[in-house]
Amino acid sequence: MKEQIEQISQKAKEEILHTNSIKELYDIRVKYLGKKGELTAVLRGMGALTAEERPIIGSLVNVVRDELESLIKEKEEKYKQEELVKKLEEEKIDITLPATKIKRGSKHPVNRIIEEIEDLFVSMGYDVVDGPELETDEYCFERLNLPKGHPARDMQDSFYVTSEYLLRTQTSSVQARTMMKNEEKSPIRIICPGKVYRRDDDATHSHQFGQVEGLVIDKNISLADLKGTLEVFVKKVLGENSKLRFRPSYFPFTEPSYEVDVSCFKCGGKGCNLCKQTGWIEVLGSGIVHPNVLKMNGYDPEKYSGFAFGTGLDRLAMFKYGITDIRYLYTNDVRFLNQFDRKDETK
Ligand code: DAH
Repeated sequence: MKEQIEQISQKAKEEILHTNSIKELYDIRVKYLGKKGELTAVLRGMGALTAEERPIIGSLVNVVRDELESLIKEKEEKYKQEELVKKLEEEKIDITLPATKIKRGSKHPVNRIIEEIEDLFVSMGYDVVDGPELETDEYCFERLNLPKGHPARDMQDSFYVTSEYLLRTQTSSVQARTMMKNEEKSPIRIICPGKVYRRDDDATHSHQFGQVEGLVIDKNISLADLKGTLEVFVKKVLGENSKLRFRPSYFPFTEPSYEVDVSCFKCGGKGCNLCKQTGWIEVLGSGIVHPNVLKMNGYDPEKYSGFAFGTGLDRLAMFKYGITDIRYLYTNDVRFLNQFDRKDETK
């Protein structure tokens, strides 16, 4: 019996040595050590042995079984290791492949314009300031040389919340706020982009729209400074070929006041449906700060002078991007907004 066990052991070791796959290895385990395996069969036959032989044969079978098990285990480890290496090799990531593009949202055209204007003015040393949208009559009108009952109040249809509070109709209110807040009454150079509200609603007017206000106060500020600044501004936003035309106008907070027209960027000034055949499009209100406004907000008009301007952000966006209805800017239709993807890059 001993010999039979040794033969089995020998044969099994040979076979284990010559396996070519993990499957073959498992088959060998079943063949020798499984329930119906050859070595197990030997154990079953032990009933026929004498009491002295039994423990000897029993322990021999156990030794052989342990040997075979550990040989199988060793080879099994080897196969598993090889398999892992192969798998890693196959799953190698090719980092030179182009990545799938992630679709990101696009910037709203009005925000694009705001950022462009902010960058420009910050580069010229201006501060970007903010003001409340729910404003007092005092800051929206009175401190801007528009006392109660002044006829020019009719220029803007307002949403009053109480008799003293209203939704601001113009970012000009921030002019007065900035002057009042500046306790040292030192020079000012600010722009203020923000939302304003009026009782309007058609294809070119919305009850809510964006404006940007500019205010410069210093010694010896003249019309030349205003003109130079607006020229840089308009050319940067609407294109280097834009021409400017200053048309005398009236605003209560400036004297003299001007409306600034820009040569129609669609027809270049020849006349088309956009500029109503005039070749010009009105873009800005501006002027030299009225001495009353300086005085009312704590600045000495003998010492200081200033210029101010205001423009509609939505109008600028409409001109720049050829948008025909202002309401597109507020209905947030994704098909509309998607068109502004990478718009700047094609400029
Ligand atoms: N606030 C004016 C408007 O809403 C625009 C404006 C005109 C602003 C002249 C100014 C200015 O600062 O000087 O129509």
